[in-house]
Amino acid sequence: MSNIDNYANKKENKIKHKEQMKELNLKHKTDSIKRKKKHNETKKLMKEDKKNLVAFNKENKKFLKDSKGIVQDKVKEVLTWYSENKEKENITKKHFKSKLQRAKKSMYDFSGPISFENVSYTYGWGTPFEFKALDSADLVIKKGKITAVIGMTGSGKSTLIQLTNGLIISETGRTLVGNFPIIAKTKKIKFVKELRREIGLVFQFPEYQLFQNTIESDIAFGPINLGADKETSIKKVPELLRLVDLPEDYAKRSPFDLSGGQKRRVAIAGIIAMDGNTLVLDEPTGGLDPHGEEDFMKLFYDLNKKQNKRIIIVTHNMDHVLQIADEVIVMHKGKVISIGTPFEIFSNNELLKKIEIEPPKLYKLAHKLKDKGLDVTDKNFRTIEELAKHIKERIK
Ligand SMILES: Nc1ncnc2c1ncn2[C@@H]1O[C@H](COP(=O)(O)OP(=O)(O)OP(=O)(O)O)[C@@H](O)[C@H]1O
Ligand SMILES: [Mg+2]
Repeated sequence: MSNIDNYANKKENKIKHKEQMKELNLKHKTDSIKRKKKHNETKKLMKEDKKNLVAFNKENKKFLKDSKGIVQDKVKEVLTWYSENKEKENITKKHFKSKLQRAKKSMYDFSGPISFENVSYTYGWGTPFEFKALDSADLVIKKGKITAVIGMTGSGKSTLIQLTNGLIISETGRTLVGNFPIIAKTKKIKFVKELRREIGLVFQFPEYQLFQNTIESDIAFGPINLGADKETSIKKVPELLRLVDLPEDYAKRSPFDLSGGQKRRVAIAGIIAMDGNTLVLDEPTGGLDPHGEEDFMKLFYDLNKKQNKRIIIVTHNMDHVLQIADEVIVMHKGKVISIGTPFEIFSNNELLKKIEIEPPKLYKLAHKLKDKGLDVTDKNFRTIEELAKHIKERIK
C-alpha cells in the first residue's frame, strides 16, 4: 500500500470513528432525556399515590384494632398451654416462642388471592442506570391455582414476583398477600418471617440462595429459623432430597460444589421444607436437562393437585405453561397486558407476536395443520392425546 493510500485509509477511519462517536453521543442524550421524562412521570405518580398510601395505612390500623380481640384470645391460649405443659421434655422455649409468634399474627391469612394494586418499581432511582421495571401494574393471582408468568426478557417478571414475599417493596400502590398488606414504601415489614414461610420463593439464580456449609443445613435452615424443631427438620432432609431427585448421601456435602441444576434442586427442596401455602418459582428449570425439567413440572403439578399449594411459575418454556398452568399472566414493559387460560393466550397470535414469544409445540402444529386445511385451533387442548382426539373428530 502506498503512503497516499495509507493516509487516505487513516483519514477515512478517523471520519468513521468521529461519526460513530457522534451517533453514540446522540443516543446517550436521547436515552438520558427519556430517562428524565420517565423519572418525572414516576415522581408525579408517587405524589398522586400519597393519598392512597394514607388510606391503606388507615385501613391497616383499623384492621389491626378490629382483630385485637382474636389475637389476645389466641395468645392467652398459648400461654395457658405453655404453663400446663412446660415441664414436658419435648416442649422447648423455642417451640413456645414460635407458637406465641404464630398466635400474634393469627389475624393474617396469607393463603387468599395475591393482589398487586398499581405497583411500580424503579431500579437505581436517581442514578444514570435508573430503570422502571414495574409500571403501575395491576393483577390478582388466585389461590390454589398454578399461575404462569410469561413475557420477554426484561419485562418485569422477576421484579413482580419478588414483591410477593417482601424482597423488594413497591414505590406505589400495595401488594396484598391474602389479607396481609405490603404497602408501598414500607421501610420494614412486620411479620416478614411469617410472610416468607407462607410464600416460598426460589430465585432465578439459586446460587444466591444457598449459604450453609452442608446441603442438609441449607434445606433445614428455613423451618429451623422459623422455630421448627432442629432434629425433626434434619430428619426430613433425606425425603426432601428424594423428592427433588438428589442422592440422599448428598446431605453432608457442601452446596457450593454442586452444578447449577443441582443447586436449584437444593433451593427447591429448602422451599418445600418450609411447607408454606405458596411456591414462587423463577425459571425453576434453568440448568436442568429435559428429563429433569419434566420431573419438576410433575412435582409442581402434584404439589398443587395433591397438597393444594398455590404455584406461581415464571418461565420461558411455553410447553411447560401449556402442560401445567391454570392461568397465564403476560407481562410487557413493566405492565400486565393480558391474563387468560393457556388456550386463550396461545390462540392469540397477535399477542404472542407482540411479546415475541413462540407458542407451544402443539399449538404450532395445530396452526400448521390449519394452513393445510385441517383447523382445530378453536379447540382447547393441553396434551398430544387431546389434540389427536380433536383431529380425529374433525376428519370423521
Ligand atoms: N438490580 C437491578 N439494577 C438495575 N436494573 C435492574 C436490576 N434488576 C433488574 N433490572 C432491570 O429491570 C428490568 C426488569 O427486570 P426483571 O428481572 O424483572 O425482568 P424479567 O422479566 O425477569 O427478565 P428475564 O426474563 O430476563 O429474567 C430489566 O430491564 C433489568 O435490566
Ligand atoms: Mg427474570
